[in-house]
Amino acid sequence: HGTSRINEQGHLEIGGVDTTELAAKFGTPLYVFDEQLMRETMRAYKSALEATGLRHEVAYASKAFCTLAMCRIVAEEGLALDVVSGGELHTALKANFPPERIHFHGNNKTPDEIEQALNAGIGAFVVDNFHELELLGALAAEKGVVADILLRLSPGVEVHTHEYISTGQIDSKFGFDLQNGSAQRAIQESLKTKGVRLIGLHSHIGSQIFETEGFKHAVEIVGDLYAKAIHEWGASDLSVLNVGGGFGIRYTEEDAPLLAHQYIEAIGTAVKSTFDRLGLPYPEIVIEPGRSIVGNAGTTLYTIGSIKDIPGVRKYVSVNGGMSDNPRPALYQAVYEAMLANRAREEETEVVSIAGKACESGDMLIWDVKLPSVKAGDVLAVSCTGAYNYSMASNYNRIARPAVVFVQNGQADVVVKRESFDDVVSLDVVPARLLDGVL
Ligand code: LLP
Repeated sequence: HGTSRINEQGHLEIGGVDTTELAAKFGTPLYVFDEQLMRETMRAYKSALEATGLRHEVAYASKAFCTLAMCRIVAEEGLALDVVSGGELHTALKANFPPERIHFHGNNKTPDEIEQALNAGIGAFVVDNFHELELLGALAAEKGVVADILLRLSPGVEVHTHEYISTGQIDSKFGFDLQNGSAQRAIQESLKTKGVRLIGLHSHIGSQIFETEGFKHAVEIVGDLYAKAIHEWGASDLSVLNVGGGFGIRYTEEDAPLLAHQYIEAIGTAVKSTFDRLGLPYPEIVIEPGRSIVGNAGTTLYTIGSIKDIPGVRKYVSVNGGMSDNPRPALYQAVYEAMLANRAREEETEVVSIAGKACESGDMLIWDVKLPSVKAGDVLAVSCTGAYNYSMASNYNRIARPAVVFVQNGQADVVVKRESFDDVVSLDVVPARLLDGVL
């Protein structure tokens, strides 16, 4: 992937930096991000959208990986930002991300979060439900401002990696359903609600999607409602169609995602034919990729420790991290690939399973991976860990979270410091009655 290669010493190198040197200098576990690859992917989405001739915006879905430095890169590349919580919004604002390029998602934005976003002057809210519509309208009107909104619709397009089923995915906590008329009602309500201005419709059909059918289908369904909103209900400010994120990536050889431009071309074609059919001017297209921008760019380095061989059964190779830095195998049965960063050219002679260090049998990072004969002290590099790893990391077992470094052009920069044990206890409070003169 990206700038990864094996150098003369037979070590894995990323961004021109030897990963064994990164492990020695910054310690392990360590998240390493290939900055150039992230930037190239952002540019690939932008130029693919440019090629459709449609007005467009790429909003990076920050839930996949959100830090100050990441927000800076997204800002520098001219992308917009999708946030889903006060914490992500705060991170973006601290990074001096242009507020007008931020949009706010989420199925239960609190009054405090809405205030925070209104005070910051963000670009748009993606309104999820009637409660939020009323709350946002009231809070905005109170401040004497008008908030631009998109409505999040649940178009009833269900996507399962390769196939999609269009029989309503009504059973979802997100968005307004089309099947029972609530989407139609939401449009009419928002046109009547003071303090908001309806500028667009949104749908997100899923994540790690490998085909274009679901997107086309969603564009057609949402397009029909868009036309109705304009022609029948007078939604004169409607001009944005946000088709969400979900573009798949290759974690292992078995995964067969499309390229960025293939997803975008299909979406562009669907938008044009749908809006031609409806006799409407083309909308501005917004996409919200998260995983596909950072996923392949991340690699986690671990140090191998204990090894338990059960002859004829399995060899458990333990690393100094696990579900606390990557919960995805335990949560979703996600499959990852790995290699020895310090012996990258050696022949892979054994099949082992990589165990995390958490006190839980389910903390397995990889079942059955082929590696050279491993020994304690080897550096294991697990690839494609850039998305939903750091952002979902926890302090389970009071394990401190790893540092994050960005590498590019032979340079490594720490963008998140390694947590110390003191950081882990820093918010703990011992009530006076338990102090007993000991602390
Ligand atoms: N837009 C909306 C409204 C979303 O809900 C999501 C993801 C995205 C964009 C970005 O989707 P992406 O391009 O990253 O697929 N924790 C899970 C993934 C949860 C995705 C939730 N929503 C995982 O680790 O696989």
